[in-house]
Amino acid sequence: MIRLGTCRPDLERAVALLRAGKLVAFPTETVYGLGADASDPDAVARVFAAKGRPADHPVIVHLPDAGAMKGWAREIPDTAWRLAEAFWPGPLTLVLRRGESVSPAITGGQDTVGVRVPGHPVALALLRAFQGALAAPSANRFGRISPTTVDHVLAEFDAVDADGSVAAVIDGGPCRVGVESSIVDLTGAAPRLLRPGMISIGQLTDILRARPIIPPDNRGPRASGRLESHYAPATPVERVEASRLEARIADGRARGEHLAVLARSARPPDQTGLEWIEMSDEPGVYAQRLYAALRELDQADADRILVVAVPDQPDWAAIADRLLRASGGSAQA
Ligand code: TXA
Ligand code: MG
Repeated sequence: MIRLGTCRPDLERAVALLRAGKLVAFPTETVYGLGADASDPDAVARVFAAKGRPADHPVIVHLPDAGAMKGWAREIPDTAWRLAEAFWPGPLTLVLRRGESVSPAITGGQDTVGVRVPGHPVALALLRAFQGALAAPSANRFGRISPTTVDHVLAEFDAVDADGSVAAVIDGGPCRVGVESSIVDLTGAAPRLLRPGMISIGQLTDILRARPIIPPDNRGPRASGRLESHYAPATPVERVEASRLEARIADGRARGEHLAVLARSARPPDQTGLEWIEMSDEPGVYAQRLYAALRELDQADADRILVVAVPDQPDWAAIADRLLRASGGSAQA
C-alpha cells in the first residue's frame, strides 16, 4: 500500500488509482474511509472483498457538494436540503431514495442510498479532483474499530490485503471528530436517526423542526453499524459504572485478571500493574481519541478492557452508543 501525502501530485496519483478501479483510503473529519469510484460496480465490489463485508450492507456515497445529491438520489425532500445546508460539509449522512443509475453494489440491493459531503479539506480536494463520487465505508475490516489515523489503516490492511486491492492511503493526520457520521433516514413518513454521531439530536431536531425517531436496534443487515458487537476490539470490553470501578478492579485482581481501563479519571496512585488511559470530560475531545485509545488498550495483552460508563446526556449519545457496541451489547440509541 502506497502512503500518499496531501500535495497536488499525490492527490492526482490517488485520482489515477481510483479511475483505474483501485481502492484508496482517505481521511474524513469522522474516520478514514476506504474509497472506490462509486460509478464502478467492480471497484465497489473490491471494497466489500477488502473489508470482508457482506454484500447486503450498503455503503455511503461521498459527494463534493450538496448539489451532487441530484445525481444519486430521487424525490429529494426539502428536509434533505435543509440538513445539507446546515451541516454539510460535515459529519452527517442522509439516507434518500436512490437514483435510477445507482448500482445495487452500493445500496446493498435496497431502494435507498446514503450520501454525505465530508467536512475534511483533503477529502473535498480529492472529490473535486476526481470529479465524481466516492463510495467509502470506514477503512477497517468488517466488525472492527474504525481507523482515525493512517497507522490504523495500515494496521487493518497492509498485512492482510493479499491481492493488494487497497492501493494507497492518503495521510491527512488524525481525524478531528473521531466517531462515524450521524445517519438520518429521510425515506419514511418521519425522519429516523439510524446512527447517532457528534451532530446531536437537538441540532437535528432544530433543522428538521421535529425530533427524529430513534428506532430500536433491529440488528438487521440494513445498517451494519447497527449489528451487535460492531466496532469491537479483540479484547473483551466491559462497561462499568464509575462508582463500581474500584471494586471491579479489586475483584479482578483477586482472580488474577490482567485489566486495562478506559476512564475519565486519573489512575489512583495505588493502582499499579494495569494499563490505564484517562479520557477527557469533554465529549468532543473524548470522541476524537476514543478509537485510538481502544486500539491502544487492545494491544496491552489484557484479559479485559474496563470502560467507565459515560454520562447519559445528549452530547454523549454517540460515544455511549459506540461503547455499548464495543462491549457487545445491543445499541439502545
Ligand atoms: O463517518 C462516516 O460515515 C464514515 C466516513 C468514512 O464517511 N463512513 C462510515 O461508513 O462509517 P460505514 O460503511 O462503515 O458505515 C456506514 C453505515 C453502515 O452502517 C451502513 O449500513 C449505513 O451507513 N448505510 C449506508 N447506506 C445506507 C442505506 N441506504 N440505508 C441504511 N443504512 C445505510
Ligand atoms: Mg464502518
